[in-house]
Amino acid sequence: MKNSKENIVLTGDRPTGKLHLGHLVGSMQNRVKLQNQYDRCFYMVADIQALTDNADNPDKVRKNAFEVVLDNLAVGLTPEKTTFFIQSQIPEIAELTVLFLNLVTLARLKRNPTVKEEMKQKGFGENVPAGFLVYPISQAADILFCDSNIIPVGEDQLPVIEQANEIVTKFNSTYGETFRKIQPILSETPRLVGIDGNAKAGKSLGNAIFLDDSLEEIKKKVMMMYTDPNHIHASDKGKIEGNIVFTYLDIFDPEKSEIEKLKEHYKRGGLGDVEIKKRLIGVLENVISPIRTKRRELAKNPEFIEKLLREGTEKTRAVAKETMKKVREVIRINYF
Ligand code: TRP
Repeated sequence: MKNSKENIVLTGDRPTGKLHLGHLVGSMQNRVKLQNQYDRCFYMVADIQALTDNADNPDKVRKNAFEVVLDNLAVGLTPEKTTFFIQSQIPEIAELTVLFLNLVTLARLKRNPTVKEEMKQKGFGENVPAGFLVYPISQAADILFCDSNIIPVGEDQLPVIEQANEIVTKFNSTYGETFRKIQPILSETPRLVGIDGNAKAGKSLGNAIFLDDSLEEIKKKVMMMYTDPNHIHASDKGKIEGNIVFTYLDIFDPEKSEIEKLKEHYKRGGLGDVEIKKRLIGVLENVISPIRTKRRELAKNPEFIEKLLREGTEKTRAVAKETMKKVREVIRINYF
């Protein structure tokens, strides 16, 4: 709350599919780092948010609730340092959302660039589910109900955090100083292009390499990757800009000077696409194989995941009740 000194991190994923390399470099690696730096960390399975555009597909959301937890554990979040919980099991978040709804105009919601972009992608137009349009408000509640102030996010989430901070300002000026400002933390690679050259690798865009992809799948996807369409023969001069294989090598290959040499060679001509793709396959396999192994190990023990979520959710609920007591007080809806 306004005067607390603890730094509290909150992160979360919509359980709509398995996570991929874009999530890894966009926010997951940062989460792992932050859980070691700050006082408290929460990880939320954003199942209510997932339902805002999957209302007719609850099975998908239910199934992926476990998958996203597996992904995050496999990458290195640990229940010792991070409290895992499920959004839908904290009714206080819904309550806080309803109270926040009164502080935001419909015009402001329609202007949010992230929501606009997603609406376009999903082809919603005027028929957008109301719950989807207002998800940034519920996301503000996700963050504020547990007093978190540090949010590691991908670039696409910045407008959502901005809107949450507007809610903080509005709430505080209306009801008195209650919540503190939220600080988004971006990774060095806040956005990863898709293997098809699309600006963003997306769960639903079919252009992502998943954290549990097999070596065979990695091979197949890298071989499909967009390079330089005019680089037909190995001897041709090649272009680096917009060449996705090099974009990925820049991000994932630890041997930076070697990559610079390969780029020069490619530009000069004489370096074939297959060769750089083979290098990338090896590099990505090195990134993914420890994650995949750990993920498969964890997946054998669903009781462990369930227990971790149950206990984490219970702990989180206690925090939520405290916050709502304070919120009801300042809004004067604390009758009895
Ligand atoms: N909107 C986020 C995503 O699509 C998920 C999310 C929900 C979240 N609530 C959050 C992220 C709160 C950070 C903080 O990935």
